[in-house]
Amino acid sequence: MKVIVGITGGIAAYKAPLLVRLLRKEGHEVKCVATDHALQFVTRLTLETVSDNKLYSDLFDRGNNHSTEHISLKDWGDMIIVAPATANIIGKMASGIGDDALSTLLLSMSRKPIMLAPAMNTQMWECPAVQRNIEYLRSVGVHIVSPTDGELACGTSGTGRMAEPEEIMRQITSLPDARPIHESPLNNMRVLVTAGPTYERIDSVRFIGNYSSGKMGFALAEALASMGATVELVSGPTSLSVHHPLIHRTDVESARQMFDAATTLFPDCQAAILSAAVADYRPEQTADHKLKKQGEEGMTLKLVQNPDILATLGSRKVEGQTLIGFALETDNELDNARHKLEKKNLDYIVLNSLRDKGAGFGVDTNRVTIIGRSGASLETPLLSKKEVAEVIVRHCLCH
Ligand code: CTP
Repeated sequence: MKVIVGITGGIAAYKAPLLVRLLRKEGHEVKCVATDHALQFVTRLTLETVSDNKLYSDLFDRGNNHSTEHISLKDWGDMIIVAPATANIIGKMASGIGDDALSTLLLSMSRKPIMLAPAMNTQMWECPAVQRNIEYLRSVGVHIVSPTDGELACGTSGTGRMAEPEEIMRQITSLPDARPIHESPLNNMRVLVTAGPTYERIDSVRFIGNYSSGKMGFALAEALASMGATVELVSGPTSLSVHHPLIHRTDVESARQMFDAATTLFPDCQAAILSAAVADYRPEQTADHKLKKQGEEGMTLKLVQNPDILATLGSRKVEGQTLIGFALETDNELDNARHKLEKKNLDYIVLNSLRDKGAGFGVDTNRVTIIGRSGASLETPLLSKKEVAEVIVRHCLCH
């Protein structure tokens, strides 16, 4: 692969030559583009030596073969990674400003994968304008290598340290397929996602619930939004938060509330992914006070069935809508999942394996099998829920 490494003016620029070396070690060709400020932290000679190529830094460099040489780099490179990316370059990119060789090149690379590895002081990273810019760039498909926590050059500690070159390298090599990430393949698509558990009230202080954390559903919402979709996220009770301008969140508690929200939103959506762990039953009666202990006799709760949200959407689905459900099975996994796909009129069903230690409720990883109507299936290895979410969205919705 031909990789352009952009370097901007932050102390983490001293790590850029290491990234270039890692890329070259893996057999990639590298050309570097640095801002003037970057060259205060790392020298031209170092970057030219490790990349074994000329460094680009000046829009009007006399040494360029022609005045738009930096732009022709866009045709040469298969992707660009800016490491470190300062708040300044992030702001310029989000606003469409090109006033030096790197920012101009970034504007011209909208058809190629773009990655940014931000590095800055914690307060700068948390500044609402920077976060808004990051969210915007994510939503149009720019891949952000999140900064990490730790000691910062300014003597404080917090989030803002550039990810280590090895981690950036890992994310470059696991970039989902060769599709330009700066495309928004799901632009103009509205997708409903259900997430988390439902709580079914017994009385004013007790409920029947389950261990679902909502992590898979939230990861799906983020993956969809990062590909340009508007997301209607209907969430049961969870401690998770989400901040993305394309994600509209509706919080619910019970299965019936989730049913009402989902059925209201679905007609305006082109797709729905129902990952919530909905309680199949609820207490027939709920008390609006705390029930007293019933004594040694014990206590019987009569449960009545909740509406099946997925099956209801399946029966209301119209041409052009894609419906994706989840299945949690312990026996006869594939057969049961296929049966559910048919019975609930789904386009895809995502089978969650409970056999893997790292898969299922509460954990950050998952391993799934995605089964389509034709019977064809796609099995993932154990991946982070974020990666699983990207695979599901790409496989089921990006055609
Ligand atoms: N689901 C739903 N509404 C319900 C129950 C389930 O929308 N009342 C959805 C879940 O969000 C999931 C799928 O249906 O996408 C499968 O849920 P699962 O619990 O595996 O299956 P059930 O249909 O409840 O069947 P069973 O419990 O018999 O396996």
